Amino acid sequence: MVKKHKAKKEFETLCAENTGAEILSRPHQLPIYPTAAFCFDSLEEGIEIFANQPGVHVYSRYGNPTVEAVASKIAKLEVMGSDLPSYGLLTSSGMAAIFLGLDSILRTGDIILTQPILYGGTSELFEKIFQKNGIKIINTDLNDNKNVITLLKNNKNIRAIFIETPVNPTLEIVDLLNICKLAKLHKVLTVVDNTFSTPYLTQPLQFGADIVIHSTTKYLHGHGASTGGAVITSNRKLFYEKLWVSYKLLGCIASPFEAWLIDIGLKTLPQRMNVQCQNAFKLAQFFNSHPKIIKVNYPGLNTHSTHRIAKKQMKRFGAMLSIEIKGNLIQVKRILKKLKLCTIAPTLGETSTLILHPASMSHLKTPKHIKEQQGIKDNLVRISVGLENINDLMNDWDYALSQ
Ligand SMILES: Cc1ncc(COP(=O)(O)O)c(C=O)c1O
Repeated sequence: MVKKHKAKKEFETLCAENTGAEILSRPHQLPIYPTAAFCFDSLEEGIEIFANQPGVHVYSRYGNPTVEAVASKIAKLEVMGSDLPSYGLLTSSGMAAIFLGLDSILRTGDIILTQPILYGGTSELFEKIFQKNGIKIINTDLNDNKNVITLLKNNKNIRAIFIETPVNPTLEIVDLLNICKLAKLHKVLTVVDNTFSTPYLTQPLQFGADIVIHSTTKYLHGHGASTGGAVITSNRKLFYEKLWVSYKLLGCIASPFEAWLIDIGLKTLPQRMNVQCQNAFKLAQFFNSHPKIIKVNYPGLNTHSTHRIAKKQMKRFGAMLSIEIKGNLIQVKRILKKLKLCTIAPTLGETSTLILHPASMSHLKTPKHIKEQQGIKDNLVRISVGLENINDLMNDWDYALSQ
C-alpha cells in the first residue's frame, strides 16, 4: 500500500492554494462556478475524460456547470408540453448565438434565405461576415409561399432559412408551421430568432424548427443587467456534432456570472410577460384611436397584416409595438422629449418602458430603399412596453402627443 504523505505548507503555499469549499448543505440558489478548468485525480482519469468529450467538465470554454444548468432550463422551456428532447448552449450574446447557430451548419457557397428586414445587427452580420465568407443571402417575404417554393426549387444551395418573428421593428409574424414544412420538404434547416416572443409565447421547435436562437439580454433575463444568448435544438446529432463543436472552438460561452443573472430573470418570465403583453395590448388600442398616430404595428390588433398568424402561433401578442407618429422627424423628436416614463435606449424586454428610433438607431445601416419598402420611416418609433401602471403610461403618451 502506498503511504500518502501530507505535504508541508508554508505561508506562500497556503496563499497560492485553491481553497476547496465544503458543501455541508445543498445551496438553495444555483451556485456560480467561476473556474477556468476542472481537475483530475490521475492522468488515467484525465485521458479517459478527454477522449469522451463532451460529458464531464474539463475546461470552462467547453462547458461549465452554472452555464449548462441555465442553458438546459431554457432548452426545456422551448419544448415544454411536447415529447421533444432539448439541448441548449448559452452564449456571450444574442449575436454570438446567431453566428453559432448558422455558422455551424453552413459551408462556403451555401445560401441563407431570410426576410428583407431583420434586427439591424443580424442584417449587418449577414452582409459583413457571412457574405465575406462566401455565403449568399436571399431576401423574400417568408409568408409568400409561391415565391418561397420557387426560390427553394431554383436555388439548390439554400441550406438554411433564417426567421425572425415577430420582426424587429415592424412586428410582422412569420407563419412558422408553414415555413418549417416547406423547408423540410426541400431538406433545408430552419433557424428561428425567438427573442421577441420567448418560449412563453411561441415554441418554434414544436412547429418543426431545427434551431432556436435567443438574445437572453432581452426578456429571458428581463432586467437589462446582463448580455447573453442561447442556441436550442431537439436534434441530438446536430447538437453534438455541429453546435457544440463550434461552440467550444469559437469560445463564445457565456460567463458563469452572466448565466446566473439570466437564471434570476427566468424565474419571473411568465409573470413579467403576462403584465407586459397586457400593457402593450392596451397601449396599442390607445394609439389606434389617437388622432396623432397614423399607424400602429402590433400583432394583437385585428387590423395588423399578420394578426391571423399571430393568433395561431402566439399565446399572447407580445410586448413590443411600433407606431407612426403624425409629423416629421423634428416633431417626433419634440414629442419623445416630452415623455417622462419612457427611456430612449437601444434595447428591449426590460421591466421599464423603452423607446427607440429604428431609422437612426437599430436599422441605421439598413439600405434606404429597404427602409422605405418595409416602413422604417423617420416617424416610426419602437416601444418595448414595461411593467408600469398602464394608466401612467397612457397619460405620459397622451401628454407628449398633445404638445
Ligand atoms: C431580435 C434580436 N435578435 C438578436 C439580437 C442581438 O442580441 P444581443 O444584443 O444580445 O447580441 C437583438 C438585439 O437587439 C434582437 O433584437
